[in-house]
Amino acid sequence: MSETKILKKNLRETKELINIEIDRFLPRKDEYPKLIHKALRHTLFAGGKRIRPYLMVQTYKLFKQDIEKTFYVAGVLEMLHTYTLVHDDLPEIDNDDYRRGKKACHVEYGSDIALLAGDALLVYAFNALAKADIDYRLKFKMIQELAEESGNKGLIGGQMVDIESEGKNITKKTLHYIHQNKTARMINLPIRFGCYLAKASEEETARLEKFGEKIGLAFQIVDDILDVEGNKTTVGKSIGKDEKSKKATFPSIYGLEKSKIMAEKLITEAKTLLKPFGEDAKMMKMLCDFILTRKF
Ligand code: IPE
Ligand code: IPE
Ligand code: MG
Ligand code: MG
Ligand code: MG
Repeated sequence: MSETKILKKNLRETKELINIEIDRFLPRKDEYPKLIHKALRHTLFAGGKRIRPYLMVQTYKLFKQDIEKTFYVAGVLEMLHTYTLVHDDLPEIDNDDYRRGKKACHVEYGSDIALLAGDALLVYAFNALAKADIDYRLKFKMIQELAEESGNKGLIGGQMVDIESEGKNITKKTLHYIHQNKTARMINLPIRFGCYLAKASEEETARLEKFGEKIGLAFQIVDDILDVEGNKTTVGKSIGKDEKSKKATFPSIYGLEKSKIMAEKLITEAKTLLKPFGEDAKMMKMLCDFILTRKF
């Protein structure tokens, strides 16, 4: 089997296990008030690569084998990520009507309900994490870090500057701020959580954090590239939206070719950081290549 096929199979299998976990802790879709439960499940189970949960599982696997212990928290991170997509697509933000190959939540249910569905996913994520079977000291730290990474000085901060940069000539520094905050931090967090749960050393955690910063930035550069060159059906999102909305992206500031080179360089550097883990990091290395070459 080729490396891509091995990775895709493993990603698919992990995704199914995480979906079971998410489904277990969410209210049934016919529970009262039905509409909110249907709406919060809409985008969550529409599809999605489950890269963040997968990163957490694979990080843990660098140290320990009993990966099923990570599925619950991995599901929590996916819920939080899905809230960001539901809100990102709203007419007031990116005004995207297509997500994960399906109608965006607000197109199916209306903006009012999509707003609430996003809110519900966000608070549910924190509630679920608070209920996780983890030593309370570590759990407290994880709740705090999740709030920081996704908050006004993290993901929301990145989204804020993304919005206010539309149609403006921004500096490269500002562009990096946007990408690091709106995307890279929530790519890095699952890696850190994986380290915490596996009780990795400080040195190993610091190394993997550097790794996370690199793949996190590369992930958003590739997202920007896919918005230019991707295929709508394969990507499962609208294409050409960034240019239409005059978004600050890597291709719009550095050009397409330079952006590709930058993403390649980040992925090469990320893989170098995995060297001390040897064969144990085989799947993680494949994931790095997938982040660079993905078509969706
Ligand atoms: C989309 O994230 C939003 C970005 C941060 C680029 P993903 O590309 O991980 O989307 P899904 O979860 O697979 O749908
Ligand atoms: C947004 O980046 C990332 C978050 C949702 C926080 P984009 O706006 O580029 O993501 P897509 O392309 O809509 O998935
Ligand atoms: Mg956006
Ligand atoms: Mg968007
Ligand atoms: Mg995008």
